Amino acid sequence: MAGLKRKAPFLKKKTKHKINTMKNFTFYNPVRIHFGQDQYDKISEELLGYNNILLTYGMGSIKQNGIYDKVKEQLQGKNIIEFGGIGANPEYETLMQAVEIGKKENIDFILAGGGGSVIDGSKFIAAAIKYQGNDPWDMLAKYAKFNDAVKLGTVLTIPATGSEMNGGAVITRVSTKDKLAFGSPLLMPVFSILNPEVMYSLPDVQISNGIIDAFIHITEQYITYPVNGAVQDAYSASLLKVLIEEVPKVLEDRKNYDANANLMWAATMALNGLLSAGVPEDWSTHLIGHEITAQYGVDHAQTLAIVLPGVINIMKDEKEDKLLHFAKNVWNIDISDKDSAIKNAIEKTEEFFHNLNIKTLLSDYKIPESAIDIICNKLEERKYVKLGENKNISPDIVKKILKTRI
Ligand code: NZQ
Ligand code: ZN
Repeated sequence: MAGLKRKAPFLKKKTKHKINTMKNFTFYNPVRIHFGQDQYDKISEELLGYNNILLTYGMGSIKQNGIYDKVKEQLQGKNIIEFGGIGANPEYETLMQAVEIGKKENIDFILAGGGGSVIDGSKFIAAAIKYQGNDPWDMLAKYAKFNDAVKLGTVLTIPATGSEMNGGAVITRVSTKDKLAFGSPLLMPVFSILNPEVMYSLPDVQISNGIIDAFIHITEQYITYPVNGAVQDAYSASLLKVLIEEVPKVLEDRKNYDANANLMWAATMALNGLLSAGVPEDWSTHLIGHEITAQYGVDHAQTLAIVLPGVINIMKDEKEDKLLHFAKNVWNIDISDKDSAIKNAIEKTEEFFHNLNIKTLLSDYKIPESAIDIICNKLEERKYVKLGENKNISPDIVKKILKTRI
């Protein structure tokens, strides 16, 4: 008994120690996925009972690759209102036109045919139509609550963001150079059609962008500190390996169905809530990247490819355990010498981006060093001053990170 008493304070301290325990979580993802070839007929089944459909799309790719015709076939007998022209990094100013149309036409379902931009834009439209406050932008800028949204389904055309199976969206306001995220379970699609064949018409650069985006979604839920989340760590490492192994096959033979299918499914799984359940997350790369896109118009994934190597390099001491897991399980690096294993893993990551023809320095995109202050000031303005899994990536650390990326 005396021995047990002596041990008690030590045990108490240990159970309080945050780094050893998976966090409690509730996981629920109601999105129905129809994956594979010839699944378009599921659209008419899903839309039974809906009549006024807003069909949204981007700048025209779905008309060139035949997806538009296949979708339209499934919508016969419905009242269809079309809203095309949702560009990459969807803009509030454009989307508000669709909100007006949607209200006037009393639409009861939104069908989004496109990539993350069209899907995110459609999520904004869905929430803004029902929004009770003055300006729907407040949902992003002021975290204004909303209790309703028009139901939405998607026909995904590019594997990248995971928006087809999550409730998040990122919207840009051009007039103020803001690129902000918002989300709600109300914005999770009712269904998503995932046909890997849609990838055949993607330009190579969009394959690279999409895969780097998915890669970094995974690392941001994985390269933090360990909480004994063996399932999450194993899922993350395996998904990263799938991306690394399958993307060269697709770039070599654009019509390799199996490799396209593996990439598409991996990108969806990368951001549907499964990997982040119960583990710490570090979204600093995304938040810094969004500022680079808002200020300089660089593609989303390319901003991430610039920032991530800097984040994991500067934060490598705190991320040491997970970086070693990453080095060993993703890059098959011998980790007996920790420092060189981590260095090697960071180098291999950047080399992977280069092999996909994506450049990784600010100067590669003609962004001057003076941009670093602009980006850090913007983060401060937004009060994004405690980023990272330990809330210690301050604007000064962001400066340090970006200085390694000139
Ligand atoms: O506009 P169209 O004509 O459709 O052309 C698009 C666009 O030019 C083209 N494209 C898409 N599918 C195609 C195709 N071209 C030929 N064949 C096809 N099958 O590709 C270009 C890029 O499309 P986009 O939708 O912008 O790409 P992505 O899916 O990468 O989306 C990027 C947006 O998603 C946000 C990003 O910030 C960015 O605004 N994100 C959304 C997230 C979410 N909702 O969870 C998370 C992400 O981290 C990300 O922030
Ligand atoms: Zn992303």
